[in-house]
Amino acid sequence: MNFKTTKLNPFGLLIEPIFGKEDVQDLDINELKTVLSQEHLITLRGFRSFDCAEDFANYCEAFGEICMWPFGKVLELVVQDNPEDHIFDNTYIPLHWDGMYREQVPETQVFHCVSSPGTDNGGGTTFTNTKMILEQMSEEVRETWSKVNCVYSRKMEFYDSQTKAPLLTKHPERDYSVIRYCEPPTHSDESFINHPGFEVEGLENQETEDFIQTLNQTLYAPEFLYTHRWETGDIVLSDNHTLLHGREPFTKGAPRHLRRVQVLGQTPLENPHLIYTK
Ligand SMILES: [Fe+2]
Repeated sequence: MNFKTTKLNPFGLLIEPIFGKEDVQDLDINELKTVLSQEHLITLRGFRSFDCAEDFANYCEAFGEICMWPFGKVLELVVQDNPEDHIFDNTYIPLHWDGMYREQVPETQVFHCVSSPGTDNGGGTTFTNTKMILEQMSEEVRETWSKVNCVYSRKMEFYDSQTKAPLLTKHPERDYSVIRYCEPPTHSDESFINHPGFEVEGLENQETEDFIQTLNQTLYAPEFLYTHRWETGDIVLSDNHTLLHGREPFTKGAPRHLRRVQVLGQTPLENPHLIYTK
């Protein structure tokens, strides 16, 4: 296969064809899975890819079992006219992990950029590497963080759920620790639609404020955060068990259109943190 690889900063790998528009389906799936487990994020750019959502879903089947939603396998991430949730608006999305409110937690997300938001319109997808963070944090900070549990609740079109998760937990299949956290929205103005519920347990009041601030600064520190700026046709694979992800705000009216599929692990992970879902 004729392609080149480039390390992304501060983590992840970019893979591009060298000669022309090779088909993305010519890349070996098992090799991609191995690289993803090492790099945690892969961007495929410049490949010939998918004409429709069904082609995209068919491709993703090769990675494993796809999570089913009321809308099917493929989430169409486009701005809606009168959104009832921030997901379908042009505001920022707080860092979170996928599946936190559902019965099973996907191992991998696959995104396909149908239409980029355009240069200088924002709308990057943010990814923070929690394995790298924990490897570099002081013992003192990890000690504080290990006392924390967070309780999250969220009601939207597809679920009404509550989840309680320790901040630090073992990766479900690998021998390292990760952070599970859904950032409370920093945008407290009315532009953020449908705020989730959020409570911290295990710390005193003043400690809680310091904790939220320190953690926020850490998650967004450039040494741990990769922001993917979309180009039309990009495919991004991300490791949901190790990373947290969110979205930058983008210009109203920008033609941003992503498709997203969630893939379960070989043994699907039953959500250990879910209190209820309706
Ligand atoms: Fe997500």
